[in-house]
Amino acid sequence: MMMNFVYLFATVGLIQGLKFMGDPARAKVGNMLAAASVVLALVAVVVATGWAGSTNLILLIVLLAVGTLIGRTWSNRVAMTAMPQLVSIFNALGGACAVVLGLNEVYGTGTVVESKLLGSVLILTNLFGGAAFTGSMVAYLKLDGRKLPRPAQIHKVLARTLLVVLLVGLVYYIAMPVDPSIYPALLLGISVAALAYGVFLTLPIGGADMPVLISLLNALTGVATLMAGLLFHDPVMIIGGILVGATGILLTLQMCSAMNRSLAGVLAGKIVSGKSTASEADQDIRSISAVETASLLAFSKQVAVVPGYGMAVSQAQRECFALQEMLKESGVDLHFIIHPVAGRMPGHMNVLLAEANIPYESVLEMSEVNNTMEHYDTVLVIGANDVVNPAAENDADSPIYGMPIIRAYKAKQVIVMKRSMAKGYSGVVNTLFDRQNCKVLFGDAKESLSAIITELKRI
Ligand code: TAP
Repeated sequence: MMMNFVYLFATVGLIQGLKFMGDPARAKVGNMLAAASVVLALVAVVVATGWAGSTNLILLIVLLAVGTLIGRTWSNRVAMTAMPQLVSIFNALGGACAVVLGLNEVYGTGTVVESKLLGSVLILTNLFGGAAFTGSMVAYLKLDGRKLPRPAQIHKVLARTLLVVLLVGLVYYIAMPVDPSIYPALLLGISVAALAYGVFLTLPIGGADMPVLISLLNALTGVATLMAGLLFHDPVMIIGGILVGATGILLTLQMCSAMNRSLAGVLAGKIVSGKSTASEADQDIRSISAVETASLLAFSKQVAVVPGYGMAVSQAQRECFALQEMLKESGVDLHFIIHPVAGRMPGHMNVLLAEANIPYESVLEMSEVNNTMEHYDTVLVIGANDVVNPAAENDADSPIYGMPIIRAYKAKQVIVMKRSMAKGYSGVVNTLFDRQNCKVLFGDAKESLSAIITELKRI
């Protein structure tokens, strides 16, 4: 009875912690609360299993300490721009844990699996966990810009074949009488197939479809945790798994609708034809200086900032706030327009802007303003590229075709801040850059913004 109360307490703490994480001001407290709740649940497990004073407890404490140390050092060292990669690795570890727990149940503790329910839960744990583990590792390598085999048709064929093998294996186990002695081999086979499936599912997906894939992999880890929770009758794992799985699935569907993609279409993978006619050589780029940009802003009434991955790279969010404050003093309205996949992880731009105390009411969703973009006198595109590329609307051969974009090109004047003519994440030529109303302010975004602010002070 007492233990149930402790579990309930830990569960409520975990839910509240996750809720706090949705609010930038309370996210840190939320993280601590969720971590403390998990530790409380672990203490409850130690008491309930009578581990107190045993070598298992020592092992648990040592592993917790080592894990905490590695996690802490890693998080401290990683650059803010490499956060999406770190999140992918953490997600992969969640999947890997589920696989190890599942295999340990059969191969480590030697449980003879006679119940179909237990057997099915174990298979699902390893199926979801295996795919999430290797899928997230490949996503990590992609986000980190590592060299991987080019997306190819064979990857799609292998992914589909493995999916069929996995489903047939599961249905066969549920529907047919299976001798408990062959269950360990079946579970091992399904685990290996799931691990391979994660790789071939992720390899052919890229460009505009990556965000959908990332949230799907999060959801898979959530479902694997839920299955492992059912296996161990652990309410904290069950509820944590349900929350992560359900929010991951909702986010995946939201991402799909924001990107104008179907989930089936994303999972099928799109192999780029490479026939797009847009070419850098044909582009006539006009550059602009920080001083000219400052006077353009000073004479504008409505200004919008479209932040992208480059703003995260240069950590220019505080300069964005300073610019907003400065323009406000001269009666110029500045909005931030956020694309759902700007940056490299869901909510990337919102987190950075919140960190710089930019008021929420000036941060707008793409859908709120896309039909009225012509009202903006100036749009500053700060380190964004793919999310403002008109090729997504008018080049059917482009890999980002069909993805909704922020229609910056409709504004009276567009200034793009970037360091060079390098392409964005999708590797596609941006047809915005040579439009008549577009100029490029070359340089690091933070430095360019500081120069603009200095000039505005002078004006
Ligand atoms: P990108 O299209 O990747 O463009 C970023 C731009 O920032 C580049 O053109 C780069 O040009 C510029 N840049 C880099 N460092 C800079 C700096 N210090 N100062 C100024 N500019 C800098 O970014 P986006 O528009 O945000 O689009 C996001 C892309 O990532 C989409 O294709 C999306 O599908 C993909 N993606 C998103 C996610 C999520 S969940 N958001 C996950 C994975 C992939 P220079 O190098 O010339 O400066």
